[in-house]
Amino acid sequence: MNTIQAIRGMNDVLPGDVSAWQHVERHARTLLGTYGYEEIRPPMVERTELFRRSIGEVTDIVEKEMYTFDDRNGESLTLRPECTASVVRAAIEHGLLRTPGRRVWTMGPMFRYERPQKGRYRQFHQIDVELLGVAEPSAEAELILMTRRLWKALGVSGLALELNSLGSRDIQARYRTRLAEYFSAHAPALDEDSLRRLETNPLRILDSKNPSMQTLIEEAPRIVDEHDGDARAHFDRLLATLDEAGVEYRVNPRIVRGLDYYTGTVFEWTTGELGAQGAVCGGGRYDNLVAEIGGPASPAIGFAIGLERLVALLKAQSVELPAARPHAYLAAAGARASILAHAVAERLRDAVPELCLVVDAGHGSFKAKLRRADRSGARIALVLGEEEAGSGRIAVKDLRARGPQSVVSIDELADHVTRNVFAG
Ligand code: HAM
Repeated sequence: MNTIQAIRGMNDVLPGDVSAWQHVERHARTLLGTYGYEEIRPPMVERTELFRRSIGEVTDIVEKEMYTFDDRNGESLTLRPECTASVVRAAIEHGLLRTPGRRVWTMGPMFRYERPQKGRYRQFHQIDVELLGVAEPSAEAELILMTRRLWKALGVSGLALELNSLGSRDIQARYRTRLAEYFSAHAPALDEDSLRRLETNPLRILDSKNPSMQTLIEEAPRIVDEHDGDARAHFDRLLATLDEAGVEYRVNPRIVRGLDYYTGTVFEWTTGELGAQGAVCGGGRYDNLVAEIGGPASPAIGFAIGLERLVALLKAQSVELPAARPHAYLAAAGARASILAHAVAERLRDAVPELCLVVDAGHGSFKAKLRRADRSGARIALVLGEEEAGSGRIAVKDLRARGPQSVVSIDELADHVTRNVFAG
C-alpha cells in the first residue's frame, strides 16, 4: 500500500526543531506583553469576500494563491492567507475599536498556494501584530522598535530595515495614473500578466518577478515623487524618531508590498542569509481598511513575522537554544519493578513539580534502557530492578560524572534528586 505523505509545501515541525520555535514564541509572547499587546485568536477560515475586499482583487494572493472552497451550504470560504483582515474583522465585530490605541497580536498558520521553495511554503506561520486607532508616526516607531528588541532578545543579528511610504489613496491614485502612462509607453516589453494589470492595477506590475522586466521596473516613476506635504511630514517625523532611537534603516522606494490595503508607511526586515526569500517580517499602515470592510473610520498599522524564516535564520546563525532534555530517566525492568515504577514516578512528581522525568518501564533489558537514558541527555538515571523493588530502594546513577551509583530509599528519593539535579 502507498504511504500517505504530507501535502507539498506543508511541513511537519519535528521535535528536534520545536525548541527553536518555542524559543521564538516564548520571547515574542513576553515582549509583546511588555509593550501592552493582548493576544487575540481569530478563526483560520473566513468568508472569501473578506480577503477579496481587503487584500485586493488584483493581487497574486487573491488571484492565484487562496485555498477557497464552498462549504456544504454553498458559501464560499477561504483558509486565511494572512490575518490582518481577520483581526480587523474581529475588532469591528466585537467593538474593540472603541478604545483607540488597541494593541493586539496573534500567532498561527496561514495558507497560500505558492510555488514551494526554501523559505516559501503553502502552510506557513506568522506572528501578527496590529496597533489599531493611532494615526501618528509614533505607532510605526513603536512597532519597529519592538521588532528590533525582539531580534536582540532572540539573539539574531544582521536583519536590515527597509522603509517606504505609499501615501494616501489620493496619492496612490495619482501614482497609478503616472505608472499606467509609463508602462503603456513600454507595452511591448510587458508580459501577459503585466499587460492585464496595466488595465486593472498597474501598481502590481512592480511586484513582477519576471527577470526580463526588472530594468523597466527599476526605471519606473517613484511614489515618493507624488507625495504631498502631509505624507512627507509624516514620513519625516517617523525617520526623525528612528534616528533619535538609534535605529538603522534604508529608505527603499521599491517596496510596494503584495497586499492592496496599505496606505502610508510600509516596511520590511530582510536578511541576505536565507537566499531568495529574505523578508523575515513585513508590514505597514492601512488607514482605510477598517472602513473598507465596514467598520468606523480608524487608522491602523501592523506587521507579521514569518516564523519559518525566522527559525531558519536562528539556525543559520547557530543561535544557542535551551535544550529539551529530561532531568531524570527512570529505567525499570522486571514484573514487580515495572508495576511499581509509575507509583514511584508520581510520588517524585508530587514532591518536585518542576522535574522533567521520563519513565521507561516497558519490555527490554536494563542495558537497552540505560542506553536510551544516556541518549535522552538526562542528568541522572533512576534504576529500579526486582531487587530494589523488593527492598523499597532505588539506584541513582549520575549519567554525566561516571562515578559509582548510589542506592537510596524510595522515601528519600525526592530529596536526593533535588540535591543532585537542581543543585548546580
Ligand atoms: P506578508 O509580507 O505577506 O504580510 O507576510 C509577512 C511575512 O510572512 C513575510 O515577510 C514572510 O516572512 C512570511 N511569509 C509570507 N508568505 C510566506 C510563505 N509562503 N512561506 C513562508 N513565509 C511566508 C502580511 O501577511 C501582512 N498581513 C502583514 C501585516 C500585518 N501588515 C499589516 N499588519
